[in-house]
Amino acid sequence: MAPYIGTPTSRIDGIAKVTGAAKYAAEFNVPGGVLYGSIVPSTITKGRIVSLDTSAAMDVEGVMTVLTHENRPRMAGRDQDYKDDVAPDGSPFRPLYDDKIRFNGQPIALVVAETSEIARFAASLVRVEYESEAYVTDVFRQRSAAIPVKATSPEGAMFAPPKPRGDAAKALAAAAVRHDAEYYVPIEHHNPMELYAATVIVEGDGTFTVYDKTQGVQNVQRYLCGVFGMKPEDVRVMSPFMGGGFGSGLRPQFEVVLAMLAARALQRSVRVVLTRPQMYALGYRPAMIQRIGLGATTGGTLEAITHDAITVTSQYEDFYRQETGWSGLLYKCANAKYAHQLAHLDLPTSCDMRAPSAAPGVYALESAMDELAVALKLDPVELRLRCYSDRDQHENRPFSSKALRECYRQGADAFGWSKRNPEPRSMRDGSDLVGWGMATGVWEALQMPITVRIVLGANGHAEVACATSDIGTGTYTIMAQVAADTLGLPLDSISIKLGDSSLPQSPVEGGSWIAASVANGIVTTAEAIRDELLRLAKQIPNSPLANASADELTLADGQLVSKHDSARTVSIADAMRHGGVERIEQEKTTSPAEDAARSHNVHSAIFAEVNVDEQLGVVRVTRVVSAVAAGRILNTKTAASQILGGVVWGIGMALHEETLIDHRFGRIMNANIAEYHVPVNADVHDIKVIFVDEPDDSNPLGIKGLGEIGIVGVAAAVANAVYHATGTRVRNLPITLDKLHRM
Ligand code: MOS
Repeated sequence: MAPYIGTPTSRIDGIAKVTGAAKYAAEFNVPGGVLYGSIVPSTITKGRIVSLDTSAAMDVEGVMTVLTHENRPRMAGRDQDYKDDVAPDGSPFRPLYDDKIRFNGQPIALVVAETSEIARFAASLVRVEYESEAYVTDVFRQRSAAIPVKATSPEGAMFAPPKPRGDAAKALAAAAVRHDAEYYVPIEHHNPMELYAATVIVEGDGTFTVYDKTQGVQNVQRYLCGVFGMKPEDVRVMSPFMGGGFGSGLRPQFEVVLAMLAARALQRSVRVVLTRPQMYALGYRPAMIQRIGLGATTGGTLEAITHDAITVTSQYEDFYRQETGWSGLLYKCANAKYAHQLAHLDLPTSCDMRAPSAAPGVYALESAMDELAVALKLDPVELRLRCYSDRDQHENRPFSSKALRECYRQGADAFGWSKRNPEPRSMRDGSDLVGWGMATGVWEALQMPITVRIVLGANGHAEVACATSDIGTGTYTIMAQVAADTLGLPLDSISIKLGDSSLPQSPVEGGSWIAASVANGIVTTAEAIRDELLRLAKQIPNSPLANASADELTLADGQLVSKHDSARTVSIADAMRHGGVERIEQEKTTSPAEDAARSHNVHSAIFAEVNVDEQLGVVRVTRVVSAVAAGRILNTKTAASQILGGVVWGIGMALHEETLIDHRFGRIMNANIAEYHVPVNADVHDIKVIFVDEPDDSNPLGIKGLGEIGIVGVAAAVANAVYHATGTRVRNLPITLDKLHRM
């Protein structure tokens, strides 16, 4: 039987998804139906609610209740009860808790009715009087009030800027060639296709079954227990499928609190589905103002890197990641210094969004590197090779593997980079200017503690269970591939259970860490199954494996097979029959070993071609090659899809995406996917994904994870291509045609 790992296996949940059999959080029903909650969002940005008049809403036939901070069921009073697994430092937002307004669009009431149409109509009848206070939503107005990040927890400390090294200011001042510029990335929103939704079902025994759109069912379960003083056995949270999260579902969102409040108030099953505009009140990629200083020798080696960043968060929580840290990690440079300040705005707390910190941070770094290459009259790839670092510059240690040189080489070859004329405005396609740009990408290869349960039946069918989510990345499929190979069974003899808080523990699915973590867990648990099978096999009279040791055995084609002598086998069925067992169950927890000696990262090289209409400034990204080094690729089809999606998002980041706030009102103006632009099919042309070979021994299968690396560096590659096409350097995203008007 050929292995499944490494093949382009189609999604095992694909048929369920395209036929509609796969159910999402808003699609679960109960006999007798559910009630529907509709949110009333605040229309002011900061202040308090003076009065709420719900009488007109209550008069609508079919309305069951209108919940507000005045009449809601009891909720916890302490911040710690609202802290979820990935909460930043601060005081988490509490929906319908009190009369305070912290951001525009904040949920202030929930109308619960027999149908969603009635609920939405009645929600429009709730009258609110506010007392408004002064507010600020503009990062540029708040930049002088920004304060250095100050971690008050160990989690916060993980994301503080890295330690400086050498004397960056002095080295920068003394450098033969300098580049120093400011770059800006605006607030962006996740815009997953599936709307956030929670269906809370009241069970007959007083417990709750919650179907919630989330990247972490156990995180939501713990959170609900904290907020409502419940025990874990009182609430089961499920999220079997997710129509995109991208980080917006790492923390529990307010739809699940509101649905639970209503279910508790009415003792009825309740569903809350956000509208598309309401999705803009959940969290966002923080806007980032950053200044990069690069000092180099005339030979193109780096002498100094400085990276100063301001990112935005709410007034009540300090969300940040290590936005500046990528700069000093990637390139060899003895002198580096980082600073990171937070601008507190009257907005919801910012949050993780695909490759948080790296997508914006590396955009600035890789734009600056391109500008430095221009100043040095050096090919951008050559500059990066001269600055190549085989060691993690922060920790001064090697990487477990780093095949970035191969990414540059294979990416450049596939793109045809050697044919590039370095002169800006030198390449044309008819009336269009053509530009070629490149950039590097980097992300972490993390692993988390996880528990996997495998139940192997005598019929040769195995069920693999873990509470992880599959946020759409293909987790079901790679879990089945790894289980099939390690248990020696065909793929269709494996069933996967996930997205259920009652299953063995898993961290939230994020940080690109689930593939490596859960695969490691499956390998370990499958070994325990093998050991148990061997114990049974040895009991067979004249067993061919009587003297075999566990580590000389593999499971293949439904049998225990000796690696030394493939004629010595015992079938799974025989072992279990002789042992008199119908099923073998094993559950193992794996925690990645601390590896203080090496750093673990994934890398990429991105090459982009743009065509720019010289008269109109319209930019089209006509070609992208992304060459990725991410260890062993479990599934070349779903992995390539992840990178493709990341590249498409990078095109959006470069050219389209921007959350626009009318700062006079503190209100988002384009809170819909008609006016918040994301790339559509017509914006996406030829994208080629290359996985370079990268053996790694950090875990049994050499997996690194690649959910996020796809977006990193793409915006810089596009921006650099736009410069090459036009001679105009745009340092604030997105690169819209108005910014190219003077080319
Ligand atoms: Mo990802 S931003 O860790 O969901």
